[in-house]
Amino acid sequence: MEEAIFSKLRYMKKVLLIGGAGFIGFNITKFLAENRNYEITVADNFFRGKMDVLLTDLVDKYKIRVVNADFTNAASFDQLDKDYDQVYMLAAVVGVKYTEEIPNELIRINAFLALNTLEWLKTAQCKKVVFTSTSECYAGTIEAFDYQVPTPESVPLCIDDITHPRFTYAVTKMLGESGFMNYSKVFGFECTIVRYHNVYGPRMGFKHVIPQVTQRFLKKEDPFKIYGYDQTRSFNYIDDAVNGTVLAMETPDVSGEIFHIGDMTDELKIEELIKYIGELMDYKGTYEYESAPSGSVSRRCPDISKAQKMLGYDPKTSWKVGVKNTIEWYVNYINTGGDVFE
Ligand SMILES: NC(=O)c1ccc[n+]([C@@H]2O[C@H](COP(=O)([O-])OP(=O)(O)OC[C@H]3O[C@@H](n4cnc5c(N)ncnc54)[C@H](O)[C@@H]3O)[C@@H](O)[C@H]2O)c1
Repeated sequence: MEEAIFSKLRYMKKVLLIGGAGFIGFNITKFLAENRNYEITVADNFFRGKMDVLLTDLVDKYKIRVVNADFTNAASFDQLDKDYDQVYMLAAVVGVKYTEEIPNELIRINAFLALNTLEWLKTAQCKKVVFTSTSECYAGTIEAFDYQVPTPESVPLCIDDITHPRFTYAVTKMLGESGFMNYSKVFGFECTIVRYHNVYGPRMGFKHVIPQVTQRFLKKEDPFKIYGYDQTRSFNYIDDAVNGTVLAMETPDVSGEIFHIGDMTDELKIEELIKYIGELMDYKGTYEYESAPSGSVSRRCPDISKAQKMLGYDPKTSWKVGVKNTIEWYVNYINTGGDVFE
């Protein structure tokens, strides 16, 4: 008995999640708190993440440390320990709206977040880091060079137009990918990159297509305009994305690897998605078809066979089940007076 407790304590890992209050960060924190005996620290400035009742409950129940600081300021890292076993780097300004409204700030914040974290890792004694990147890094390769879809990790990264604000986000993520891979080699910490593909689920804010469409259906918009109706996306339910990320962190001998985390079985047209949400919300009006906003890619679907083979990653939630869960959460949240949050 004593031996069991001792070995549990001995292997209690220290985990840091930078950006851990955000959509994916909160869900990784929840998963680790509920399934692992880890000492967890969440670092976030609550630019987008929320100290809502869900996070407060988790923090209280599992004695999670929260460091509320802006990590574009290098001095904020002084508030952290230096010996984490696992560091999840999730902090970033995310979302098409920000690329349009504040592209300069997005460049500054995401670049400083990546570089400050790397400079801190240089002197800290952290064992393993997962950097979270995006399919946006190769969206241009598909558009300009008609690259294969489903797309594997070996795809060259490319953006269509370096002057277009839409691509500021992808540029900062390319900087991050290169930075994390190369600092890791030079300074001797392990590093794995995950590239997410349209992660969705409850509590993801209101900037995503699913909550926005839910709000529009609740307002009974008629005719209901479907923007980019013929584009396809493959959506990745949050529980599966969390699972893929934790596997990327915890699987041995995958340092230096990049993994596409998404779902390749469920590529669907935006029209199909919107009409399914309409059905769930009992919409009886008519639909109108509109083209997509400029800079939006026409097709995106990851090849996840590398993650399946090396990590045992196996996304389990079909898009219909995931979308239904998400819609139910948002309808309940809105109908019970929840604030619209970023
Ligand atoms: N959600 C997706 O589909 C998706 C797709 C591709 C990549 N990603 C990447 O995954 C990561 C997590 O995404 P998410 O959807 O959870 O986004 P999110 O916006 O919900 O989370 C990002 C977190 O970073 C925090 N943050 C921002 N600026 C900060 C600063 N200066 N100091 C400290 N914290 C700061 C925010 O407050 C937020 O809690 C991001 O790096 C994002 O680029 C997400």
